[in-house]
Amino acid sequence: MRLLILGGTVFLGRAVARLARASGHHVTCAARGVSGEPVAGARFVQVDRDHPAGLSALDGERFDAVVDVTRRPSHARHAVAALADRVGHWSYVSTCSVYADNATPGQRADTAKLTVPAPVEVDNPVGEHADFYGPCKVSCEDAVRDGVGPERAFICRAGLIVGPEDPSDRFPYWVARLARGGEVLAPGTPDDRVQLVDVDDLAQWLLYAAENGLAGTFDGMSAALSRSRFLAEVAAGVGRPDPELTWVEQDFLLARDVRPWTGERSLPLWLPLPEYGGFLARDVTDSLAAGLRIRPIAQTAARTLEWIRASPGDVKAGGLEPAQEAEVLREWAARQ
Ligand SMILES: NC(=O)c1ccc[n+]([C@@H]2O[C@H](COP(=O)([O-])OP(=O)(O)OC[C@H]3O[C@@H](n4cnc5c(N)ncnc54)[C@H](OP(=O)(O)O)[C@@H]3O)[C@@H](O)[C@H]2O)c1
Repeated sequence: MRLLILGGTVFLGRAVARLARASGHHVTCAARGVSGEPVAGARFVQVDRDHPAGLSALDGERFDAVVDVTRRPSHARHAVAALADRVGHWSYVSTCSVYADNATPGQRADTAKLTVPAPVEVDNPVGEHADFYGPCKVSCEDAVRDGVGPERAFICRAGLIVGPEDPSDRFPYWVARLARGGEVLAPGTPDDRVQLVDVDDLAQWLLYAAENGLAGTFDGMSAALSRSRFLAEVAAGVGRPDPELTWVEQDFLLARDVRPWTGERSLPLWLPLPEYGGFLARDVTDSLAAGLRIRPIAQTAARTLEWIRASPGDVKAGGLEPAQEAEVLREWAARQ
């Protein structure tokens, strides 16, 4: 198969390229060349999609399949305008941030309500427009469905993507934290839901979709699991089974400026309830029936730890620092 990846030089796109090469496909990665390197064996074509005719370096070429990861509606529109006639299958990597309701667990991709598309003046969900990430991805989805047609378009709404080369501080925090051992601050309650997807599992599903002509709109993530099982699996994967977890109530954490999800002073992957009770608890029965295969989290944790140890400079810092965690644990113990 001749596969074109619009992107393909970082994290998910690179994983798609690597796995496609390993399966013997001919892979072209089209990007500016500023964010990362293509994998060995992939052809690189320099393009700048910020310009309407930015894909002209691909003029005249035909591809069996495209994978696009863009967050910018204009990129998605220009790509389908330039390429849809010369391409077979089209995968667009979207996000579960397209959904309007983050609170209700058990929602499904085919029936869940979406947030509104981005207003025309918003085309790049960064800086002052960072809150428009979901709406921009809705607009990108619409551009792909309209431009490619429903029978050839695979819209894959990824959940939290984790594994080696993760550019975020979220999963790597827990891998490094559990590998360090000792008393671990666990946020919320053991039964809170967690949902994610290994980068290679998602990449493999994108390839499967291209190879098999899978069309439609699906969520790309594992079934939800409890936070206690998530932490136990990560701990097992990093060689520290039976971690010493201290569960600390959400309100106690928020009162001490421990922040949710990502960034400084955060406990990554933790989201306030009930507002986000549905964000990591989607029903993915259809995706699993449509070929998505999910490996044990312990394997993902082991691979991620290997990467953290091999490339510490590439790992984004974030999460509670050890002294901050110890202080919260002391205060929690004193309160008990
Ligand atoms: N990480 C998560 O947990 C998560 C969760 C849900 C959904 N997602 C979605 O999953 C996908 C992740 O994709 P990814 O890991 O491959 O990372 P990415 O950051 O989306 O990669 C962007 C790619 O596009 C290229 N690019 C950016 N601007 C460009 C331009 N103006 N012209 C041409 N190429 C350009 C980049 O290379 P250059 O900069 O060199 O051009 C890079 O290869 C995204 O669609 C994201 O929205 C992520």
